[in-house]
Amino acid sequence: MATHKLLLLPGDGIGPEVMAEVKKVVGWLDSHGFASFSIEEDLVGGAAYDEYGVPITDEAMARAFNADAILLGAVGGTKWANVAFEVRPEAGLLRLRKDLQLFANLRPAMCYPALADASSLKRDLVEGLDVLIVRELTGGVYFGEPKTITDIADGQKRAVDTQVYESYEIERIARVAFELARTRSNRVVSTEKHNVMKTGVLWKQVVSEVHGSEYGDVALEHQLADSCGMQLVRNPKQFDVIVTDNLFGDILSDVAAMLTGSLGMLPSASLGGVEEISGRRRALYEPVHGAAPDIAGKGIANPIAMIGSLAMALRYSFGLGEAADKLEAAISGVLADGYRTADIYSDGMKKIGTSEMGDAILAELGKAA
Ligand code: NAD
Ligand code: IPM
Ligand code: MN
Repeated sequence: MATHKLLLLPGDGIGPEVMAEVKKVVGWLDSHGFASFSIEEDLVGGAAYDEYGVPITDEAMARAFNADAILLGAVGGTKWANVAFEVRPEAGLLRLRKDLQLFANLRPAMCYPALADASSLKRDLVEGLDVLIVRELTGGVYFGEPKTITDIADGQKRAVDTQVYESYEIERIARVAFELARTRSNRVVSTEKHNVMKTGVLWKQVVSEVHGSEYGDVALEHQLADSCGMQLVRNPKQFDVIVTDNLFGDILSDVAAMLTGSLGMLPSASLGGVEEISGRRRALYEPVHGAAPDIAGKGIANPIAMIGSLAMALRYSFGLGEAADKLEAAISGVLADGYRTADIYSDGMKKIGTSEMGDAILAELGKAA
């Protein structure tokens, strides 16, 4: 059996807490013959800053390049509120995304049947929800230059961020969205602000061209990003795949997360190109949520987004679709049995902590094995 090289970057806040549950699942899959893993672990974010003065070291980057897949917990927190912008915890994650060219971020928002009442929207609006947000991850205003704050006259300051997209970046993310739509309900909504932004004009044009020349069989609709946000909470089930830029994708995926009950539910895959020699696709898997400083250290974080990210790694990086299905079924089973972390708790359910949720998922896996 092939051994998969997995790099774990737990990070900050609840990152290490939810990663501990993933380690249990990885151990279980290994010991039950589903897969064989060799695991390395390193620091990222504030944890790396505290140790080395940078949010990710060159050594950790080298490990990332060498891994078959990376699992990242979360970075950031109030402790690092005053560190220099260039070495803030988030810069470690952004370097990973940029240097590994992980341009396609898949953020699936699925409402598990047992959680339809945990959403802030009415049950009939979210029951059966299955939206995939395809977020461009290595361009746009996150990385555009110049990015500065300068002093101008009379004690005033000027801050500049730059939104840049080149057509190749839009083309490749559009293709990912259309390809994935073909494996789902064959519908894509592309969202931008072409009424205000030149990057929006180019985005709409390029997505339309890729559609016209290669994906005429997929239904394509364009929506302005503000309207798309409104439609996501008005009638989320109208969507199949949403393709959008880096910043709109960040915002819309937090919105979509709440439709499923909690930010603690949403996994993601950040995928790059296929390496020529190894044939391996660069990939990092991370929950959509952050370090959650408000609940860190309390043992109450929901580990499902992190464990769901492992399921995505099994499917997209390791060709272990069956194990991924099993893991997702175990998550669904545990929720159906009424187990809930605090973020998805409602009256009459069984309230448990992070580690009990991991154990419950392992027990469910055990039943199915
Ligand atoms: P957050 O996602 O950390 O938290 C938002 C809210 O959701 C909080 O109330 C939190 O308790 C709750 N929440 C998040 N994940 C949860 C989970 N698994 N279980 C239960 N509740 C959960 O966003 P924020 O508070 O805006 O950001 C905190 C820090 O995290 C910031 O420094 C930010 O930059 C960073 N961040 C990192 C990532 C990442 O590493 N990928 C993502 C988002 C935010
Ligand atoms: C996310 C996060 C990151 C982003 C931050 C931590 C840099 O919010 O992954 O959604 O803005 O992309
Ligand atoms: Mn975000």
